[in-house]
Amino acid sequence: MDTKEKFSKSGIKGFDKLIRKGIPIGSSVLVEGGPGSGKTIFCLQIANNACLRGKKVLYMSFEEPERKLKEHMHGFNWNPEKFEKQGLLRLERFRAIDISRSVEAMLSEAKRELLIDIHPILMPKDFSPDIVIVDSLSAIAAAFSGRESRFRIYMEQFFRYLERSNITSFLIREVTHPTHLRTSYSEKGEAVSFLADGIIVLYDILDKYGKRSSALEVLKMRGINIKRKIVEMKIVENKGIVVYPNLIIGENIKTRFSLT
Ligand SMILES: Nc1ncnc2c1ncn2[C@@H]1O[C@H](COP(=O)(O)OP(=O)(O)OP(=O)(O)O)[C@@H](O)[C@H]1O
Ligand SMILES: [Mg+2]
Repeated sequence: MDTKEKFSKSGIKGFDKLIRKGIPIGSSVLVEGGPGSGKTIFCLQIANNACLRGKKVLYMSFEEPERKLKEHMHGFNWNPEKFEKQGLLRLERFRAIDISRSVEAMLSEAKRELLIDIHPILMPKDFSPDIVIVDSLSAIAAAFSGRESRFRIYMEQFFRYLERSNITSFLIREVTHPTHLRTSYSEKGEAVSFLADGIIVLYDILDKYGKRSSALEVLKMRGINIKRKIVEMKIVENKGIVVYPNLIIGENIKTRFSLT
């Protein structure tokens, strides 16, 4: 196996600079950020670029309907319909409640929680993806509200399934996150963090002049010597997410912003 088969580039140039060799194939990567920080667009772009390279992508949406996701993609001049026709892309909407119900049913059948081996509920049987995107884990977690241990069990099984199948996954998680400079990222201690091989954080930055901008950080990526810095990113019409690996947030932002 050569390097090309072990690592996968995202096709988002500035972002690829941060992860150097690429994302190890079979990794589970959390994509975290606050509301409107660009998590969905980032993952749709990953999906689009992977399809361009002939990879099969399953986008599991627990939030927006399929139609909306396609509209977002059209806004960046991407063509999801073409990939669907080629059998490369599946954009599907699922209901989180269906997962929590099935888990309950399986657990009561299995009697003992340790016995269960959950097949990733709702995964289409006639499609074997290289990449799975889940938008979002937060929506699934909400359906397990009050039964967090059940959610943990489901997640462990889900991660195990992805690993066994050598599927690279991008799992969106909504977090309340820093909206200003020099606030360190703090782990919320949720079960999925230690299961994930990588964490990408999208930030919404507010400078002292009241101007907002977006930033991105690769917080962890097992097996890769990542560049550890928070850098500026933009969501650009007809293009998608653009990451600027040399524009570090913190040091130069005051100067740059006071000039605008
Ligand atoms: N075609 C476009 N051109 C430029 N910017 C866009 C375009 N479409 C969306 N955006 C910007 O992207 C932002 C966030 O996108 P996205 O839906 O990916 O966020 P999110 O993190 O998934 O949010 P949520 O938590 O609500 O799901 C929007 O607020 C909008 O400003
Ligand atoms: Mg979203």
